[in-house]
Amino acid sequence: MLDKLKLEIIDKVNDVNNLEELKQVKVETLGKKGAITQLTKTMKDKSEEEKKTFGKQLHELKEYTNIILDQKEKFLLKQKIKADIEAEKIDIFLPGYEFAAGLYHPLTLVTKEIEDFFSSLGYSINEGNEVEEDKYNFEMLNIPKDHPARDMQDTFYFNAEELLRTHTSPVQVRTMENNDDKTTPVRMICPGKVYRRDEDDATHSHQFMQVEGLVVDKNISLADLKGTLELFAKKMFGDNTKVRFRPSYFPFTEPSVEVDLTCHICKGKGCSVCKNTGWIEILGAGQVHPNVIEAAGYDPNIYQGFAFGLGIERVAMLKYGIDDIRHLYNNNLGFLNQFNKVK
Ligand code: DAH
Repeated sequence: MLDKLKLEIIDKVNDVNNLEELKQVKVETLGKKGAITQLTKTMKDKSEEEKKTFGKQLHELKEYTNIILDQKEKFLLKQKIKADIEAEKIDIFLPGYEFAAGLYHPLTLVTKEIEDFFSSLGYSINEGNEVEEDKYNFEMLNIPKDHPARDMQDTFYFNAEELLRTHTSPVQVRTMENNDDKTTPVRMICPGKVYRRDEDDATHSHQFMQVEGLVVDKNISLADLKGTLELFAKKMFGDNTKVRFRPSYFPFTEPSVEVDLTCHICKGKGCSVCKNTGWIEILGAGQVHPNVIEAAGYDPNIYQGFAFGLGIERVAMLKYGIDDIRHLYNNNLGFLNQFNKVK
């Protein structure tokens, strides 16, 4: 009788395909109401002799059942782990994530374009200090301590001598001063950030960018300045752009000029951008004042120069038709993505 049960149990365990089914077989054999448990309960009605032999066989069957259930469980577990690993397999041939390439900021684009143009004329590209000394920012540029021109460029002071530079013009002095040989001609531009205590609005910001330009050599005249700026204007705004000089005043140039370009929107006819004048003011410039040349160690009787200072935001706004300077600082991707995809 126990042999028949043993064969039945073996068959059942063999037929099992997963852990759930195996659990079921365990219940049917060794569980509270299982076949082996039921037989154990009949022991009390047996004679002493039967108890001995039947008890031994039953115990052996129980042991045997435990062993084959255990083995089968181990086998099924292994199979399950294998199947899980198969299902999780990483497909190394799947295409990867696409990384978005960065873009140039419009101010960087304009700066690079200006740098390319002036390097093609043989200018060097210099860097100055954003934290500048009063001496370079004002005094050596012919703006002494009590000069009213200081009021136009109020800024952020660290102490009596150090401030955030109000313009890139101090780089003129530093460049000349750095030349050990004061007969070395200078041709340089310097792009960089400048700071002023301005209210921020559509056309003003307390921090903005300028490009300074300086040429120092023998026989440099306003005609050289005009020719250079004419070429520059054509490069930045198109071949039909004209340049107009208006007299102006800067302490570090004499004579000083403000430079207008024909409005590239209406081509000089007059529109809202140029306030119907046909011209747009773009930069300040002039012949370098002899006092500045002398302060930097050059001989003003032999060397002359021209200089100019240009607002980069201004150029970007004109070139791309941007109506509010604050768009350039807000890091709005909808705005920035419109400019020159690098990809
Ligand atoms: N530094 C002047 C400013 O920030 C701009 C300027 C005017 C620069 C005339 C020059 C120059 O080099 O010659 O307003």
